[in-house]
Amino acid sequence: MCGIFAYLNYLTPKSRQEVLDLLVTGLKRLEYRGYDSTGVAIDSPDNKNIVMVKRTGKVKVLEEAIQEHFSGREYSEPVLTHVGIAHTRWATHGVPCEKNSHPHRSDDENGFVVVHNGIITNYNDVKTFLSKRGYEFESDTDTEVFAKLVHHLWKTHPTYSFRELVEQAILQVEGAFAIAVKSKYFPGECVASRRSSPLLVGIKTKTRLATDHIPILYGKDADSGKPQVLPRSESTSEFMPLEEKEVEYFFASDASAVIEHTNRVIYLEDDDVAAVRDGTLSIHRLKKSLDDPHAREITTLKMEIQQIMKGNYDYFMQKEIFEQPDSVVNTMRGRVRFDGNAIVLGGIKDYIPEIKRCRRLMLIGCGTSYHSAVATRQLLEELTELPVMVELASDFLDRNTPIFRDDVCFFISQSGETADTLMALRYCKQRGALIVGITNTVGSSICRESHCGVHINAGPEIGVASTKAYTSQFISLVMFALVMSEDRLSLQQRRLEILQALSKLADQIRDVLQLDSKVKELAKDLYQHKSLLIMGRGYNFATCLEGALKVKELTYMHSEGIMAGELKHGPLALVDDSMPVLMIVLRDPVYVKCMNALQQVTSRKGCPIIICEEGDEETKAFSSRHLEIPRTVDCLQGILTVIPMQLLSYHIAVLRGCDVDCPRNLAKSVTVE
Ligand code: F6R
Repeated sequence: MCGIFAYLNYLTPKSRQEVLDLLVTGLKRLEYRGYDSTGVAIDSPDNKNIVMVKRTGKVKVLEEAIQEHFSGREYSEPVLTHVGIAHTRWATHGVPCEKNSHPHRSDDENGFVVVHNGIITNYNDVKTFLSKRGYEFESDTDTEVFAKLVHHLWKTHPTYSFRELVEQAILQVEGAFAIAVKSKYFPGECVASRRSSPLLVGIKTKTRLATDHIPILYGKDADSGKPQVLPRSESTSEFMPLEEKEVEYFFASDASAVIEHTNRVIYLEDDDVAAVRDGTLSIHRLKKSLDDPHAREITTLKMEIQQIMKGNYDYFMQKEIFEQPDSVVNTMRGRVRFDGNAIVLGGIKDYIPEIKRCRRLMLIGCGTSYHSAVATRQLLEELTELPVMVELASDFLDRNTPIFRDDVCFFISQSGETADTLMALRYCKQRGALIVGITNTVGSSICRESHCGVHINAGPEIGVASTKAYTSQFISLVMFALVMSEDRLSLQQRRLEILQALSKLADQIRDVLQLDSKVKELAKDLYQHKSLLIMGRGYNFATCLEGALKVKELTYMHSEGIMAGELKHGPLALVDDSMPVLMIVLRDPVYVKCMNALQQVTSRKGCPIIICEEGDEETKAFSSRHLEIPRTVDCLQGILTVIPMQLLSYHIAVLRGCDVDCPRNLAKSVTVE
């Protein structure tokens, strides 16, 4: 949902060409966040102006434009200090086109240029204010008001520093933002800030950093002369301002954009203003409340560069589907002890007694993450014996759902930044509920704002369509159910059965992945159709919803996940000899009911593709097209049945010529409501 990337080198010679390469590579890593249009801004060769290049379309188009636009000796000569900002857009305000692409500028002179992720909700008011003062707007975006507002403040407060100007501007805007600002009046400086949209600072130095923390400065320069550095708390380790001699800074929407340069990052908090001047990074906040920390920690990323590369695969999504035998093991690593049948979830273990006393469990998420809640609800009800509600974050908020202090609310999110989920989290937190985060992104907002949580450890997921995060979220919730039932004697047999099944899961996923070529053949039968109905019930209903979502988002075909029990209440009317239908019919407690549905479909001349258990001849007899999956315990079937759906949507998308990793109109990490 828009990616921002900025780079600043201080006393580390880099040619403009190198800076541009860095910006483009950064954007490529962030492309999953939006790919409607892109743009960069760097200093002109004489250092007196800012030049921008923007293009509609993906980063590749921008890269070609840059090659055309920036050639010649002046671009290959090293510069000691330079600031470049870059953006890849997922349109919210204004159609994707060059004039709406970022960076946006304050005036014809490019005095201030801004890249922004998020939505400035009061942009109309700010625009009216600025229009009355003679500003003319050239785009339809909300972002442009920010650049012009900074410019207006610069004209009216000529003594303000660059940081103060940005700080004053963010006081005037409402909504969500991560921004990076560059100015021709403040060469060699960059200011960035965030509120409800992610932003981190990467730091690269030649020698080891002398500190793990940098202090936060509080207060208002204009009033008090200098910002206050509060006395160091006893509990924090030694820290000092970051004043490195030779240093490179990166501002990015996420860690994948900086990992090839540095693994040392600071995750900014809401309303932090990070400014680099003379190579020194400072983090500033206007107000201090009692429990605010004195410093921001410089953390070391655990991510490896290979994790964000496609390797030998054609698409990230394909790679991520095939990573699942490993990613599910990583989710369980260090947590499940198959020999002793014990499970420890370090991130929530201290809260388990409190959770056991709760009124109900609420599982909240969006899209695929929500489906992982649907998939595990039945098991959670069985093993916790608590009421379990599953909620779509947006709908949950629309309804002002009643929340109580003794509720335990799970927020499930791959990115940890989804605005609807984050808003729902804050809503529940304000009402005193215990907040449990289930995320894949360390340092994300949901991660940081939760009281406790489980990191799903699936590794970076870059394909816009979520795959391996789903199976890892699924397993995380299964592990939680197992922890909750540890001391229930009557449930030990059931727990044992699930644990044994978990120990075989990675190999069984490998077996299911072997179906790839068979699934590809099925895709050839289906890809020219307009619609695909996916039916199942019980533990496999979530697979129907998730499969249909994957088909819709990747192939642009209509698809619907149908609860087989509901067939006769309406959807059966869709079935005839030409409607493609896929049915999941496994040997579990709802088998007989699924067989009824299968017969209802075949007796209307429907010819379904069936997903059934290996060797189930009786079920297979109902159709010539089937996919056989290994037998596992009922509550884990959903992991094995969803993989053929992931593969099917992938192959249909390829056959239809769709861009698998970047489906139209979508982006990963939806940071707007
Ligand atoms: C679909 C998909 C989305 C996300 C949803 C929530 O393939 O990826 O439906 O699941 O936008 O995102 P997270 O999990 O990051 O909160």
